[in-house]
Amino acid sequence: MSMTVEELIAKAEQTQQLTEDELVLLLTDPAAAAPLYEAANRVREQYVGPQVELRGLIEFSNICKQNCLYCGLRRDNRQVPRYRLEAKMILDFGRRAAELGYKTLVLQSGEDDFFAPERLGPVLQELKNLGVALTLSIGEKSREEYAALRVAGADRYLLRIETTDKELYEKMDPGMSWDNRVRCLLDLKELGYEVGTGSLVGLPGQTIESLARDVLFFQKLDVDMVGIGPFIPNPDTPLAEAVGGTFDLACRMMALTRLLLPDANIPATTAMETLQPDGRMLALQRGANVVMPNVTDTDYRKMYMLYPGKICLNDAPADCRGCVTGKIHGIGRSVSQDQGFRRRRKSGGMN
Ligand code: 5AD
Ligand code: SF4
Ligand code: FES
Repeated sequence: MSMTVEELIAKAEQTQQLTEDELVLLLTDPAAAAPLYEAANRVREQYVGPQVELRGLIEFSNICKQNCLYCGLRRDNRQVPRYRLEAKMILDFGRRAAELGYKTLVLQSGEDDFFAPERLGPVLQELKNLGVALTLSIGEKSREEYAALRVAGADRYLLRIETTDKELYEKMDPGMSWDNRVRCLLDLKELGYEVGTGSLVGLPGQTIESLARDVLFFQKLDVDMVGIGPFIPNPDTPLAEAVGGTFDLACRMMALTRLLLPDANIPATTAMETLQPDGRMLALQRGANVVMPNVTDTDYRKMYMLYPGKICLNDAPADCRGCVTGKIHGIGRSVSQDQGFRRRRKSGGMN
């Protein structure tokens, strides 16, 4: 009556369907990991191919009005010196990233109201002149603000749901509303952004069932990008003593997301590499097809400390670019030369 792990994976590959119970089994059964990773790698090859999309990440402000319990940038953390890059400097980093060959820039910050659309919009317009696609990752805004930023040139938006367990979300992110976060994602979609979401894996009190529902949530929203990372306890936060997520569970979430959303863009996240040497290359062989190297100058990297153990703190943008390109070639893959928008494919992939 119940299917074996192999049968479940074959069903997912053929139909892009799994139930919550089936997802739970594939997230937990020790024997499921290896076949799941192989299947995710096959589906990635079939639907998005061997090319890896590189996105240059600019961390332009670490000031945040929110107080998420897990995050080092939370407003109550006095241990981190705060910075905001001048518009001129953001443009400068963007220009240098474009010179290094990046075709997409990701502008990320805490929820910093200083960068209202009136301030950020002109920066986006100038960056667009570099011929790059622009992704924003700056948190919850009103629909009007999202609309203004879209007009100014933003193509994509990353906003992780973090967890689909509403009660857990509202405990982890005091003063924030889960419903409003979903509202943001729906507004972004309607405004014509490519939308990315994702989860933290291993939050205290997070159940395997809720992780299974996270994957179903990504599929239901038919998001374009899904970033999944392990939660890494930060000593400067209330969750300093928490256990944190594992590399394996984060990879299983990522692999299952590839099976259910075969043509999505899925990054090998930096937090994965923090837990596991060469974790991003392993992730690229377990369903991922995107890497987001940092293109912020070294001086600022250590101040953008979401969690401890952040990689590349002393590396310059050109170092990371060379390093990642070399590693990608080392696993027999190539670096994409286009802007890497989602290419929708019918089930069955490119054949
Ligand atoms: N460990 C791992 N990821 C974290 N983030 C924030 N804090 C941590 C942490 N301690 C992630 C959140 C957020 C993204 C920008 O960084 O998921 O959406
Ligand atoms: Fe701010 Fe984002 Fe960190 Fe929450 S996760 S404290 S919103 S930077
Ligand atoms: Fe920064 Fe390897 S990605 S040095």
